[in-house]
Amino acid sequence: MARILVTRILPEGGLDPLVAAGHDIVQRPGDVAYSPEELTAAVVDADAVVCLLTDRIDKAVLASGAEGRLKVVANVAVGYDNIDVAAAHDLGIAVCNTPGVLDETTADLAFLLILAASRLSSEAERDVRAGAWTGWGIRQYLGRDVHGAVLGLVGYGRIGAAVARRATGFSMAVLHHTRHDTGLPGFTASLDTLLERSDIVSLHVPLNDASRHLIGARELALMGPDAVLVNTARGPVVDEEALADALHDGTIFAAGLDVYEREPAISARLLDAPRTVLLPHVGSATQATRAQMAQMACRGVCAVLEGQRPPNLVTS
Ligand code: DGY
Repeated sequence: MARILVTRILPEGGLDPLVAAGHDIVQRPGDVAYSPEELTAAVVDADAVVCLLTDRIDKAVLASGAEGRLKVVANVAVGYDNIDVAAAHDLGIAVCNTPGVLDETTADLAFLLILAASRLSSEAERDVRAGAWTGWGIRQYLGRDVHGAVLGLVGYGRIGAAVARRATGFSMAVLHHTRHDTGLPGFTASLDTLLERSDIVSLHVPLNDASRHLIGARELALMGPDAVLVNTARGPVVDEEALADALHDGTIFAAGLDVYEREPAISARLLDAPRTVLLPHVGSATQATRAQMAQMACRGVCAVLEGQRPPNLVTS
């Protein structure tokens, strides 16, 4: 029986694989995030950690226990930029994530943002709720058509491909850009070309050194004044201040965002930017998907502790 630190309360049923395996689950009372110091202390006598993307798992945390005790860290998220994977690798600690189970749910939300941002739904709803709507008007809330538009996907993994499938139902032409040629129709080798040709750009890349601020002032200018930007990937992929400027000065038409550079903080200029839909990082937030994510992370822990190689192992 191993000792598993679970940093937060997980969705119902999420811990089932750990319970079934008879592991000792350690959770502190309440559902309060650990500070970095508290987390470092809490990991000391753990054989495994199940954590969230809001937990920073750095070298100090990974190295805090007795050498060789901590075997695996499982992130209840597909993105794992909160974990120092290279340090984990050096220390012989496995890292797991949750690929696959959230693709369709996250693609649904990306499409929601594509529609909501293009059709200015936040501004329109805000007026209705504030009693500021004065009645039907032929020049009110004029958005951009989604059907028939050119959708540019930056990143074309499972989630990007799931968004592309939805786009075909809207008669959209779909381009995609990745660093390596996919050999698939719509592949666009140059990011600049994709940005110039797309009416709507949706981001689906992991956060790493190559993707940090991939979209900045220059790229937003390439998109042009009729373009819509959607980000359900990671906030730092976009230069948030540059995006706020681009929305305020009309360099691009609209934006739909689920992720931010310094969550939960959001730049004040972005909060009051026009034609902008802002959601609180809810891409995978359905009951079914979040439970599956938690179970997948816990299955990864069980597998590693049993000396197996789980399918959701992250390799550095
Ligand atoms: C992830 O899994 O990386 C998302 O951001 C949260 O579901």
